[in-house]
Amino acid sequence: MPRTRSGPSIREFLEYYVLVLLAEKSRTTRELIQEIKQRSADNRSYRPGGILWVATAEMSKIVSALCERSLLELDGPSGKCQITWHGRRVRRQMERQYQPPPETKERAAEKMLALLESAPSDSHVLDVGTGEGFLAFKLVERGFRVLGIDSGSHDYSKDSIQKAQERALAQGEGGSIEFRRADVRASGECDHTFDYVVSSQAMHCMADQRKCLKSVHRLLKPRGKFLCIDFLVGRKGFLAHGWHCFLAISREEWAELLLENGFVDVCMYELDDYLLVEAQKPA
Ligand SMILES: C[S@@+](CC[C@H](N)C(=O)[O-])C[C@H]1O[C@@H](n2cnc3c(N)ncnc32)[C@H](O)[C@@H]1O
Repeated sequence: MPRTRSGPSIREFLEYYVLVLLAEKSRTTRELIQEIKQRSADNRSYRPGGILWVATAEMSKIVSALCERSLLELDGPSGKCQITWHGRRVRRQMERQYQPPPETKERAAEKMLALLESAPSDSHVLDVGTGEGFLAFKLVERGFRVLGIDSGSHDYSKDSIQKAQERALAQGEGGSIEFRRADVRASGECDHTFDYVVSSQAMHCMADQRKCLKSVHRLLKPRGKFLCIDFLVGRKGFLAHGWHCFLAISREEWAELLLENGFVDVCMYELDDYLLVEAQKPA
């Protein structure tokens, strides 16, 4: 059973997307919820429950807030919401305000590397969901010892580890970098092994994010850090990545999940259409 999503990030998106849906045609609150479920249905192929399902109470709050701002009107007899002229203008402004700049993922990775600047150069880093080694190769360049693991569980990622291994060989990276096909939930790595666990654009497609985060915590040494880049949940994330951004974890969900898993000193950085999360395992 998918769970409903709420919180400031979802609300920020809905305040925009309800206007998009109403610009097409008038709809009831229930129809708005159904339409969003349907349009995000492709997310189910990545994770059951990956669709965006908004609770009726949440949608009613959004509709009331937009009515108060005169962005839409309620037609009493039909119960349908209609967008106003002002609503159409505001919707266009929201889209104009955010045109994703190029290379945002690269810039998010740069920020992650900057956070690692003071890390001892012999630190042992695990890159979870490494793919073809997007982060792993950047980290080895900075002198870290890196293990990249990937479950290869998607069509596009079946050969990723092999490609990463071939690149490491071609670059002559020697013993500093290693790639293995493994699921983070069942990786054969020892507990409390890594100074850092990093991840880029991978948490959103993990089948069980709670279990994956538990494993990350287990694999880290005490005082070890987890650094993760993924899509930003919200309007900017949607304008850049479409419905996929809702597979990712929102700021408020991260705060809850990290706390629940025993992480401390949580910091989050919103970097255009990406969110960088930093958290520490206590001593
Ligand atoms: C979108 S790719 C990102 C690859 C790379 N980190 C990047 O930024 O280009 C996400 C990767 O996560 C991997 N993945 C998904 N679930 C995983 C799990 N439970 N354990 C390890 N890797 C996983 C997928 O196989 C896929 O290669």
